[in-house]
Amino acid sequence: MPVETIKWEHGRVKYIDQTMLPNFFVEHLTDDYLVIAEAIRELQVRGAPAIGIAAAFGVVLGAQKTFCKTLGEWTSLIDHIIDELAQTRPTAVNLFWALNRMKNVLHADHPSIDKAQKALFNEAMQIMNEDKRICREMGNNGAVLIQDGATILTHCNAGALATADYGTALGVIYAAKEQGKTIHVYADETRPLLQGARLTAWELMQNEIDVTLICDNMAASVMRQGKIDAIFVGADRIARNGDTANKIGTYNLAILAKYHSIPMYIVAPLSTVDLEIMSGKDIPIEERAAIEVIAGFGKRTAPENVHVYNPAFDVTPHDLITAIITEREVIYPPYDGKLIKLKKIS
Ligand code: MRU
Repeated sequence: MPVETIKWEHGRVKYIDQTMLPNFFVEHLTDDYLVIAEAIRELQVRGAPAIGIAAAFGVVLGAQKTFCKTLGEWTSLIDHIIDELAQTRPTAVNLFWALNRMKNVLHADHPSIDKAQKALFNEAMQIMNEDKRICREMGNNGAVLIQDGATILTHCNAGALATADYGTALGVIYAAKEQGKTIHVYADETRPLLQGARLTAWELMQNEIDVTLICDNMAASVMRQGKIDAIFVGADRIARNGDTANKIGTYNLAILAKYHSIPMYIVAPLSTVDLEIMSGKDIPIEERAAIEVIAGFGKRTAPENVHVYNPAFDVTPHDLITAIITEREVIYPPYDGKLIKLKKIS
């Protein structure tokens, strides 16, 4: 069974604080949407689908605690809460996709505030339950690409901790294991916040998948040594032409994969596809604080006043991507027409 990264519990949201892993398994329980906003900003909840789910439940919490005389007044206060939640992180489109769904429900014709609150709750539950189903579908679609005995390289964490079920890229690995295949995984540690070391290594070990941790700068050598059969990663936003934003360092892997003739797979739900964005150059890339680079996890490892550039994501051009695995099907290049078609029927 995957860990439950986020869940609804008696009128409150319970979520795993991922900044504490792997040393401590801590869950927080809150009825305050501002706590959810902070949890997303601080990466206590992270990973594109999980961010969308958390934000949707944040809207439910805000709606529960907002009292007004008229539905119109109440609706504009909830609109404001949605706007606040949308300010938390800019790159993963699942955040805006989930908040748009909540906004559409908010602005539907409700006879009372009470009915509107219930409709928002139902929508958030649906977003979470859909994600559970979609993880399984992506897993099954992708698992056929993995041979028994294969060694997979992954980056960041695109597993149960990033979704409501067992993940996107790691979901494919779990599905292959369920089919009886033996899989070995190499996990990049993923500087600067170490989602690979702290989260992916922990999660795979919990699920008894054989995992070897490497520093990010070891990937080229590991590939040259013939140790990697395929690369599977998740995505935060996929542009109309297939260009894909994911954790910083994914682009490096894609270039290395091309040089070493290793397939590079992106695993993502169609909610991660943003048809409004034509190509990767228009995807907003989050820049995070210098402290994450110069004193990550408390120990200073660089001079105090050094200039730092800390983009949290990069964009892998579509021509370096072998295929995109979605809940509907595995898409091969050219991507644009296929992404438009699948997105419209999703
Ligand atoms: O900054 P993070 O930890 O939220 O970044 C997460 C990633 O880049 C994941 O690979 C992506 O969101 C896909 S998660 C299924």
